[in-house]
Amino acid sequence: MSNQPERIELAPGLEVSRVITGLWQVADMERGGTLLDRTQAAKMLVDYAAEGFDTFDMADHYGSAELISGAARRMLLEQSEQSPARFFTKWCPEPHQSSPEAVRQGIAERCERLGVETIDLLQLHWWSFEHPGYLDVMDELMRLKQDGVIAHIGVTNFDADHLHVLVQQGYEIATNQVSCSLLDRRALGDLSHVCLERGVKLLAYGTLAGGFFSEKWLGAAEPTDIPDWSKMKYKRFIDVVGGWSVFQNLLACLDRIARRHGVAIANVASRWVLDQPAVGAVIIGARLTENQHRASNSNLFGFVLDENDQTEIAKALDGAAMVPGDCGQEYRRPPYLTASGDLSHHLSAPPPFFSAVEKHGRMLTLSGSVWEEIAGHCRAMRIGNRILVSGTTATHGTDTVVCRGDVRGQTVYALDKILAAIASLGGAPEDVVRTRIYMRDADEWEPASRVHGRYFGDIRPANTLIEISRFVGDYEIEIEAEAVVPEAGDTAA
Ligand SMILES: NC(=O)c1ccc[n+]([C@@H]2O[C@H](COP(=O)([O-])OP(=O)(O)OC[C@H]3O[C@@H](n4cnc5c(N)ncnc54)[C@H](OP(=O)(O)O)[C@@H]3O)[C@@H](O)[C@H]2O)c1
Repeated sequence: MSNQPERIELAPGLEVSRVITGLWQVADMERGGTLLDRTQAAKMLVDYAAEGFDTFDMADHYGSAELISGAARRMLLEQSEQSPARFFTKWCPEPHQSSPEAVRQGIAERCERLGVETIDLLQLHWWSFEHPGYLDVMDELMRLKQDGVIAHIGVTNFDADHLHVLVQQGYEIATNQVSCSLLDRRALGDLSHVCLERGVKLLAYGTLAGGFFSEKWLGAAEPTDIPDWSKMKYKRFIDVVGGWSVFQNLLACLDRIARRHGVAIANVASRWVLDQPAVGAVIIGARLTENQHRASNSNLFGFVLDENDQTEIAKALDGAAMVPGDCGQEYRRPPYLTASGDLSHHLSAPPPFFSAVEKHGRMLTLSGSVWEEIAGHCRAMRIGNRILVSGTTATHGTDTVVCRGDVRGQTVYALDKILAAIASLGGAPEDVVRTRIYMRDADEWEPASRVHGRYFGDIRPANTLIEISRFVGDYEIEIEAEAVVPEAGDTAA
């Protein structure tokens, strides 16, 4: 079996190595303020490319990674105009940066730093789905794709429900980059189903848990002082799935399998992820100028995990808990499983999407839907500590129907809008005490109920689901809600 990295066509014309080299580590190495030597680091990327690791992943906030990649790309093109190397980047705007101008400016900056006219794959990260601006950003990214500025559009850290909204809306999404590893198997559930159904490939990061999946940590004492951000983050994942002893049990299992195949623990951990049906490629982080693991990582392509190996891994995983929620939740709500915990400080001042206004001594929120103006109602109103939310549909902006004909997508959009309205009046999802769902076709109850369960499964408000014969407008579903904001000192009896 050849040890050349396998290749995959992620989307028409986008053929890449199945091990993508991740450059987030550049930001970690530069966090003290000293940038990596650009030429030296770029030459290293050229060396990676020469061995078939010719796909690189970065983002707007990965230190000088885009500039290093730009330099590497120029070097590669000097060697051959047909270089198959591909450079992926991300744009992680703040929620208010969703105007066409903001999008064009953000993407132009990526092009400039990478030194390209066309970005191979532009991946969008979105901080809060209660802010629906991601749909406006997508509209503009699609226009940039038509203009040839972006070859392919991907997203990162989108959960199954919101990826569903995007594909259902008709956006062409090639990839979703998410955490996916033996420690974090969230992506292998509903998200994988959506991806397989809709032709979206997962790009898996965290497959080596920042380097924890290696011989170095086998039998090692639990670390208390962790020097790099990546391991700091994945140590939180280890804690969530059951702690150091559960992790050591898994590591011992991987070590046994690795020895049988004459490979490294890291190879077994990556191979297991690569074998998952929705996974297109794994992204393995590289600490350029420090450690190179290319020789080891090419061993990934010289063995297969057999049935015995799979059974042994499944048994070791029996003792490990699942990371809660769906993909990307670690960036959006507690428990924040990131290196430094809550990352909302990345946002200058995340304002609620809707702003509340005072009318006749009461606070109320208007969402801008044309129906509020026509029928004379508000989106939500606060009376004392109660918040009443009007029947809410999947109306984006003044009158655009989101996910026409699709119950799941409309439920996701409407619930995000309801939570945004509640937030604007000082409430939180856990304050919701009642929801009412009105449906055009009650035979479609299941997708609606399942989305409701994902939003409120931990909260359990009282709920009613009713079929009605007609809606005003082209909607499948309308939802209303009520929340009670606890007074200071309120506790459960
Ligand atoms: N979209 C997002 O939100 C997001 C989030 C995180 C990461 N990412 C992407 O994913 C990439 C991967 O980053 P990550 O933080 O998840 O780290 P990771 O890939 O799980 O771990 C990378 C570390 O594993 C070690 N390693 C690599 N190959 C090895 C081998 N064969 N044997 C032993 N150890 C090996 C190296 O550690 P040493 O150098 O210490 O030996 C390396 O720094 C990032 O660079 C970035 O591109 C994206």
